[in-house]
Amino acid sequence: MGGSGDVGGIKTVMVVIAMQAEALPLVEALDLVEDDLSAVFPGGVPWKKYSGVLDGLNVHIVVPGKDKALGVDSVGTVPSSLLTYAAGVALQPNLIINAGTAGGFQAKGANIGDVYVATEFANHDRRIPIPVFDKYGIGTIVAIPTGNLIKDLDLKEGKVSTGNSLDMTLQDEEHIKANDATVKDMEGAAVAYAANLLAIPMISLKAVTDIVDGTKPTVEEFLENMSTAASALSRTVPLVLKYVSGKNVADLDCS
Ligand code: ADE
Repeated sequence: MGGSGDVGGIKTVMVVIAMQAEALPLVEALDLVEDDLSAVFPGGVPWKKYSGVLDGLNVHIVVPGKDKALGVDSVGTVPSSLLTYAAGVALQPNLIINAGTAGGFQAKGANIGDVYVATEFANHDRRIPIPVFDKYGIGTIVAIPTGNLIKDLDLKEGKVSTGNSLDMTLQDEEHIKANDATVKDMEGAAVAYAANLLAIPMISLKAVTDIVDGTKPTVEEFLENMSTAASALSRTVPLVLKYVSGKNVADLDCS
């Protein structure tokens, strides 16, 4: 991904969060204010934006908002990639962060409440068994290297596999394993795709709500641990924002 943060350091960060319940504790922790978006995005989009300044860093949290027909959070790949692209064009951030929840694989060392930095993004539900389209479907994007950030903030790292379902079919499982994923989410690869189009560097921070290869039913475990994960994010995201503030993207890595 590009290096718009390389000139003069990171001054503006856009944080993309799919669910209101994941975003609001962070909005409060960072003392951000909701902005009126009607002039920026005409057409009645349900998107929300909260902004403020943290230690000299301009911070914008953008949320895809509630589905216009059903009133639930607009989770999944399409809303998050549209929002990332449109808000990315409007805000021109030096860095995009996709923060949210994910299922974790205990076989890969994941525990409830862990926050993972993605090293790679891929899709597990875009199966196109035609040469080259198969690779396009998986759509692997290697994340920007952030070894220093991971080490200095004592975070975990792993590959993210993205799909539009909370549950996991046997076919999904096969593809997630092929993607060598440690966490499974519903937005990471889509946000990475849009960030890549914009050539804006992107980091993903995913807090684990459920153990995909564990014994508890996913929905039950997800709902039970949602607030633990939201608290983990509202602790970790401000630390990451303070860490990246004023640094060059290249300084986030040790190599
Ligand atoms: N977000 C939280 N848990 C998830 C899971 N198991 N799959 C996809 N997205 C999630």
